[in-house]
Amino acid sequence: MRRILIINGPNLNLLGKRPKEFYGKLTLSEINEKIREFAKLNNMEVDFSQSNSEGEIIDLIQKAEERYGGIILNPGAYTHYSIAIRDCIESVDIDVVEVHLSNLFSRENYRQKSITGGVCKGIISGFGYRSYILALNYFKEEEV
Ligand code: DQA
Repeated sequence: MRRILIINGPNLNLLGKRPKEFYGKLTLSEINEKIREFAKLNNMEVDFSQSNSEGEIIDLIQKAEERYGGIILNPGAYTHYSIAIRDCIESVDIDVVEVHLSNLFSRENYRQKSITGGVCKGIISGFGYRSYILALNYFKEEEV
């Protein structure tokens, strides 16, 4: 099953308005369009979701197990403090790749730690919208 769920966390719906030096100028829909193009070219299916709430993100991850081969997750600011999302990722039987538009390690101290990353398959950070494409390429090569 080459079907991947993309989950974007809080404030990522505001891309385009958020500081461009970190997040670029594309809106979330424009980023999703680029991901969709890559997926189509590579015979993959992608579904997109965005939520500003921690509980909803947890529900999405829990439910994804049955329907998807993998998850690409940008937890936004929850990256840095959500033990609840971490516990969820650790408990589901599906690979989660954490992505960030910005390079967390070149930013404020409080962004340099990922609470969620340690239970993910891996983290891709700093490549703008291409972070999502790189993650999708991982799932393509893994043939999930
Ligand atoms: C982000 C980085 C987080 O620190 C921030 O809170 C975000 C976006 C990124 O994609 O670079 O909302 O996850």
